[in-house]
Amino acid sequence: MHRLLTGPRQFGGAAALLLFSMSLLSPAALFAQPSLSDSQVAGRVEALLGQMTLDEKIGQITQVGPGAIGPNGPKPEDLIRQGRAGSVLWTIDSAQIRKMQEIAVKESRLKIPLLFGFDVIHGYKNIFPVPLAMASSWDPGMVERAQAMAAHEASVSGVNWTFGPMVDIARDARWGRIVEGAGEDPYLGAAMARAQVLGFQGPRLGTPNRVVGSVKHFAGYGAAEGGRDYDGCYIPEELFRNVYLRPFQAAIDAGVGTVMSAYMDLNDVPASGNKWLLQDILRRDLGFRGFVISDAWAVASLAVHGYARGPEDAAYRGLTAGVNMDMGSQTYLTHVAKLVESGKLPVSVLDQAVREILAVKIRLGIFEHPYGDPAEKDKVLNDPVHRAATRTAAGRSVVLLRNENNALPLKKTLASLAVIGPIADSAEEIKGSWSVEQGPAVSVVEGLRNKLPNARIEFVRGGDMQRLVPMPWDAAEGKKLPPLMPEAEMRKEVEHAVEAAQRAEAVVLVLGERASMSGEAASRVSLSLPGNQQQLLEAVVATGKPVVVVLLNGRPLDIGWAAGHVPAILEAWYPGTEGGNAIADVLFGDVNPGGKLPVTWPRATGQLPAYYNHNLTHFPEDGEGFTSRYGDFVTAPLYPFGYGLSYTTFRLSNLQLDQKSIAASGALHVSVEVENQGAVAGDEVVQLYIHQRAGSASRPVRELKGFERIALAAGEKKTVRFSLGREELKFWSPEAKAWVVEPEEFDVWIGGDSKATLHSEFRVTQ
Ligand code: NOJ
Repeated sequence: MHRLLTGPRQFGGAAALLLFSMSLLSPAALFAQPSLSDSQVAGRVEALLGQMTLDEKIGQITQVGPGAIGPNGPKPEDLIRQGRAGSVLWTIDSAQIRKMQEIAVKESRLKIPLLFGFDVIHGYKNIFPVPLAMASSWDPGMVERAQAMAAHEASVSGVNWTFGPMVDIARDARWGRIVEGAGEDPYLGAAMARAQVLGFQGPRLGTPNRVVGSVKHFAGYGAAEGGRDYDGCYIPEELFRNVYLRPFQAAIDAGVGTVMSAYMDLNDVPASGNKWLLQDILRRDLGFRGFVISDAWAVASLAVHGYARGPEDAAYRGLTAGVNMDMGSQTYLTHVAKLVESGKLPVSVLDQAVREILAVKIRLGIFEHPYGDPAEKDKVLNDPVHRAATRTAAGRSVVLLRNENNALPLKKTLASLAVIGPIADSAEEIKGSWSVEQGPAVSVVEGLRNKLPNARIEFVRGGDMQRLVPMPWDAAEGKKLPPLMPEAEMRKEVEHAVEAAQRAEAVVLVLGERASMSGEAASRVSLSLPGNQQQLLEAVVATGKPVVVVLLNGRPLDIGWAAGHVPAILEAWYPGTEGGNAIADVLFGDVNPGGKLPVTWPRATGQLPAYYNHNLTHFPEDGEGFTSRYGDFVTAPLYPFGYGLSYTTFRLSNLQLDQKSIAASGALHVSVEVENQGAVAGDEVVQLYIHQRAGSASRPVRELKGFERIALAAGEKKTVRFSLGREELKFWSPEAKAWVVEPEEFDVWIGGDSKATLHSEFRVTQ
């Protein structure tokens, strides 16, 4: 049974509006290190606001799509000229952006520059690994640098706003958008959220060559029922605060300028019309001071949900709930004037929404620098440093899942290699979803040919898999989905693959999903290998040749059979522009894999949702009889959260706590020695987990509360230190309705994954 959140209806009408305005009184107190003082920003905001007509105010809260509104409706350019648009969505053509921005700053009455928003999620032209992969690096520093490069490429192109980072916690891999986030864990998720905001924006808004970020999707979107995208989420308050909101808090603390409200119902109230969520939680509790953009068409869909009575009511509810800007749907543009003129919507609500948008624009510096930098664009987008960084990032993001008898690394003396798999030669699929400007990329086949220029490398597709559903934009452009290979042809392909394997010394078998099988509107009912890949896998393994499986995918897949029959499995996710080269680096030992899973890897779809930080149960799962286990299948996942192998081995020892008892306000220090016991250099991600043994609520069996990725030369030993204080020990208590550190006993473990065994304990006193 879910305990439902107390919804926005608890405080209604006037009280809500009063609270709304009070929480927004200092719109200028936005960021920790402003280059402009709060009062300077506020002064400029008020000066502008004082001159604005009703239509111009509504313009600022409107983000227009790239096309005209309706067949005979106004074009974006006309609206911009009239001051009736504050932002433009999905335009990445630099010349077009320039033209629109010139209209805004030269031809519109108040010359307010536009925000150009796009999903720069893991790169602009140089594509980094997908976010789930970057989280697998457990390397926030690398992630920050990657997003800074993406921001630079976007900003010279004229795009000054990215719709990222996406920080939704995902515990159900059927949900396709798991690929866009950092996985299941709030602590790792918070670290990745912070890193991405700092990368996109720099230490403060207005940092040169950066953009403004938008943390999304606020909030709870990853808990979609059944893993179906856009479906409702039921999240009790303690789970919401302890898990789902943590990465949002980290992004806000890092100064994120905007928040994107989510599509779905949160406990029966749409997130984009949810006052409790957008005011009490976001503004009051999380301390957000920027502005809120709806997800695309989410304001209009308040009526589709059966929440608002129609579009006018949707505009009223969106704006009064706290959605400053309407993405795409023109609901504000069409209905807010009437709402204000009829007296239903106090103009103070509109003014406050506008203030917060203007403050971000001012802080971002676009009044002074409204344009991209065409003179620099070519240089920045083709910067070899950026391209090289995508290769490093990909190498740091792969996860070695299995390596029996040191099957990997492969020897560079191999004279022949068969590379098999439906997307093994694709330079498109390897980039994953959301790649902005089309640039070249390196497929697995090409990467292997680059690595072994003198070997005979034979490629066979081996079969096919279909994209899940046609995308609307393909249909709009008259594009049809490529037809799935007929079954007879697929069988032939398997035969070709077997022959190629037999001719080769070793096989690299590339399995997974097309990039469009994860991401938005790409949920799956099963984690099985799509198409004929399972047959292909079994047929190739039956040849008896040494086989290495490389996975290109956006979610954990059902690879139970492979895990029992194939000696080496490398999870590469979608590694980006230099993906093929990076995979070859790892397969041939030029890079030693050090990534770790940011998700629990289930053995079967029926185990979902799967996550390590669950509570203990009446009869814990690892027993016989009446236990919390499946009667017809193993309960344990295939690989635990935090898991990943290396070409070397590490020994962790000497776990030390400097105190065994601390006050609730105190902190203790934990240290551990880590030694590389193998013959090659490698990275270990040292992970610290805690467990509170009793308290005002059942606490998870383990919770990640510290990690560090360290590099060790062969034979080298280092000491890694962590501290545990209020931040790490606190949780939202459903009894206290507050964050508490409770006087209880705690376990602490340190190791290379969430099954870490090196253990100690401590106590918190009053
Ligand atoms: C809808 C998606 O849910 C969101 O993540 C994205 O930023 C917007 N479309 C804009 O592309």
